[in-house]
Amino acid sequence: MLRYQLPPGPPGNFLLGSFPLGRRDPLSVLTEWARTYGDIFFYRAFTTPVYFLNHPDLIASVLVTNSRNFVKGRGLQVNERLFGKGLLTSEGELWLSQRRLCQAAFSSDCVKAYGATMVEYTEKALVQWREGEERDLDPEMRQLTLKIVTKVLFGADVSPSASSLLRTARPIAEFNARGRALLPLMRYLPTPLNLRYRNAVRRLERFAQFIIREGRKNDTNAGGLLSLLLASRGPDGGALSARQLRDEAITFLLAGHETTALALCWTFYLLALNPFAEEKLLAELKAVAGERPLEAADLQRLSYAERVIRESLRLYPPAFAVARVAAVDTEIGGYQVPRGASVVMSQWVMHRDPRFFDEPEQFKPERWSEEFTSRLPKFAYFPFGGGSRLCIGSSFALTEATLLLLTILRRFHFSLVPGSSVTPVTAITLRPASGMRVIVTRKCREV
Ligand code: HEM
Repeated sequence: MLRYQLPPGPPGNFLLGSFPLGRRDPLSVLTEWARTYGDIFFYRAFTTPVYFLNHPDLIASVLVTNSRNFVKGRGLQVNERLFGKGLLTSEGELWLSQRRLCQAAFSSDCVKAYGATMVEYTEKALVQWREGEERDLDPEMRQLTLKIVTKVLFGADVSPSASSLLRTARPIAEFNARGRALLPLMRYLPTPLNLRYRNAVRRLERFAQFIIREGRKNDTNAGGLLSLLLASRGPDGGALSARQLRDEAITFLLAGHETTALALCWTFYLLALNPFAEEKLLAELKAVAGERPLEAADLQRLSYAERVIRESLRLYPPAFAVARVAAVDTEIGGYQVPRGASVVMSQWVMHRDPRFFDEPEQFKPERWSEEFTSRLPKFAYFPFGGGSRLCIGSSFALTEATLLLLTILRRFHFSLVPGSSVTPVTAITLRPASGMRVIVTRKCREV
């Protein structure tokens, strides 16, 4: 029966409502509300009504069954200046035609072929690492995954400029952590926060244009995706506009490196806390590949590595929530959700739900048996989202995470710097607040 009253939810301030993303620890707040108010709860963020879904069936109803009733959420819309109408943010016909176009660069054959570059770039990076030194894995992994994605998708070697490009990440994250809490009008004021954000977007834009220019010069060598974008012709026979090329380039540069880098950081963190898992990984690696470099084709025999990465994405999902806005009045879980309301579904909250995961706070790669996986409801675990807007790079990311993890682990062990604290913060992605500082120990094998 359709209920016209609101779902239960936390009491809010008359003017501000209850704004979890404006709080110091939004993930704990959301988790507590989910445990208190059940499968669907309601809160207001300023003037925006928000319906939070906390059950796999309700999440499926939004991402799959009734997906046409929703558009992408406000968190992404706030970043329109950054992503424009790239694949992550576009809607309708434009999104569909771009998705079809880009899909070819993510076929399983293409992803397998990218494997060699993934391993080669990792081996090159490791040459610089020394026994006993301290490193921050957060920027290290970002640099590596950025170089890989620009090489394989755009055919450009950005090694010299990668670190300067990565400096744009902080103002963008800062804006997303703090600027999102601002009223829409305030995001356009020339405050230091907003100006730093705009500057970072301009730098990224120049970088994207540089890559596209290089690709145009040497079309035959352009990476898989850029060649497709440059060759594409619209219904009128025209090429993609410069603006659309810029939007896709920025989208893939950002979506294609940061999340995988974070997945690796969190996996190294969990392994530092659970040395038994690292030993098992190394034993499996030795049995499958011996001393030779890994290949993407090895992945199907690396079943423990797959479980470790799955478990890491469960506990620390780099995309900690997905959101939608209702484009029409819609029913969810028996409640009438009005057009314009936000709907939020959080991987962090769902992945730690004791109804679906035994001892949910524990790192237990063993839980991912075939039997467990087959009876788990589909949207109890959704690190890559789902439905038609499922992450286009999911198999790219899983291949890359496994190859990089094992290539690094066979050379080095990491222990957390004593006294350093690792706290997750939410800023588009789930990142360690003060980086991931580790002490590097070299294993005997020479690079
Ligand atoms: C562990 C790594 C990754 C995670 C956890 C992740 C997560 C996600 C999620 C949750 C979405 C859906 C967002 C929504 O429904 O609103 C998404 C979409 C997307 N991802 Fe990923 N992603 C990862 C890696 C990648 C990589 C490697 C690429 C590209 C090389 C990529 C490119 C994209 C794009 C373009 C979209 C938008 C797809 C569309 O709407 O058609 N992602 N990702």
